Amino acid sequence: MDACADRRALLFAQRSIGRYATRQKQYIPDSVMSERTQVAIIGAGPAGLLLGQLLHRQGIEAVILEARGRDYVEARIRAGVLEQGTMEVLREAGVGERMDREGLRHGGIYLCFDGTLHHIPMSELTHGRAVMIYGQTEVVKDLIAARLADGGPLRFECADVAIDGLDADEPTVRYTHKGVEHELRCDIVAGCDGFHGVSRTVIPDDVLQVWGRDYPYAWLGILADVAPSTDELIYAHSDRGFALHSMRSPTLSRLYVQVDPDEDITDWPDDRIWSELHERLASPGWELTEGPVLEKSITPMRSFVAAPMRYRSLVLAGDAAHIVPPTGAKGLNLAVADVTLLAHALADHLRAGSDAALQDYSDGCLRRVWRAQHFSWWMTTMLHRDPGDDEYGRQLQRSQLAYVTSSAAAATSLAENYVGLPLDQTAMAAGGTVSRG
Ligand code: FAD
Ligand code: DHB
Repeated sequence: MDACADRRALLFAQRSIGRYATRQKQYIPDSVMSERTQVAIIGAGPAGLLLGQLLHRQGIEAVILEARGRDYVEARIRAGVLEQGTMEVLREAGVGERMDREGLRHGGIYLCFDGTLHHIPMSELTHGRAVMIYGQTEVVKDLIAARLADGGPLRFECADVAIDGLDADEPTVRYTHKGVEHELRCDIVAGCDGFHGVSRTVIPDDVLQVWGRDYPYAWLGILADVAPSTDELIYAHSDRGFALHSMRSPTLSRLYVQVDPDEDITDWPDDRIWSELHERLASPGWELTEGPVLEKSITPMRSFVAAPMRYRSLVLAGDAAHIVPPTGAKGLNLAVADVTLLAHALADHLRAGSDAALQDYSDGCLRRVWRAQHFSWWMTTMLHRDPGDDEYGRQLQRSQLAYVTSSAAAATSLAENYVGLPLDQTAMAAGGTVSRG
């Protein structure tokens, strides 16, 4: 279509919507494009995309609005460890095929301290549960491909996204797309727009409670074009600070070193990063192989929880409601757990007219969120060097590391949290009894 025809089609659509809206006795200026859906999803990160996919499979309509472009969203390097439950949800959602083909299933991790590697056999300790090493970039690409193949509305580069009418029967999301103002009327707004998004900010201050902590360190992460030097991830505690050897594939390594939170990345040339990694990961008989650095970035470390995760017809999911420091690899997995519960609750609400699951959504999520908050805080404070800590604190860390690597009970506790507690154990049931499995 040429530019003039394109413009004529747009004007026709705008006029049509103006007339339709008048019949509905609503004032909508002709220059605003108006549409209706069941669920307006803000944010095309893992939470928003997976929610769209789960709803689509239940026959529920959704429109996903994303502030960034597709290339940016698909290239954003973040998490890499999928819990057992996350793998299962992705398979059930019909987007697990490439993960199962290309992902690396790991049944254990190493903890390295005092120059010695200790293995935690997670699968042996958790009746066969494991994690999958598969990058968040790949999960996001798979979800976008599935949505586009299904013809589900997914709009990138949406500006000025704003939520209105939460007190009325029909909430509205307003946004600008390709220079045109739009309004999206819906039953439910799902705020999946991450920590810096707009959704959480529309919950009144006297309703929203927040808890959090900033840590006196950050992670400098690199993606390196070299085969991993280890078969399973190595989390290292050292006097020079924390280091992590992870991976993305048999030919790509992902490594992290603890740095100061205000560190300038230009002060970290590649050889300085490799030198720190060699020192911090050192153990007898083990060698780290270097390779070209393809990407590097610094991530701050923060714990944060906002509650409730539902306010009237707005629900929050993923980083919009909670953040964990990355040491426990829980951020992405929590987002998946939230939207799994949310998709069930929305299906009950929109298809069966039952509100019970939606009423319990916030409390159900928060039970799991707080468990992951504790685990992430515990892993983080056990493994990092706190610049304000003294030798007493360092001895406590060593004692804890010795305990989790020598006691089956302590190692099992780490393992069951790392591979992920079953969703129904943390989210659906408020209480429970000790399982002897
Ligand atoms: P996000 O992935 O943040 O997605 C939110 C989406 O909403 C984004 O695409 C954003 O562009 C969009 N958005 C924001 N505002 C608007 C708006 N106003 N309108 C429309 N769209 C909007 N977790 C780990 O487990 N391991 C890690 O190593 C790790 N590294 C991380 C590194 C960084 C820099 C960050 C920020 C997080 C990291 N995490 C890590 C956490 C993990 O990546 C997140 O928990 C996960 O991305 C949460 O998914 P989400 O969909 O809730 O949020
Ligand atoms: C990765 C990130 C984590 O936060 C973690 O605990 C393990 C691995 C990763 O990016 O590969």
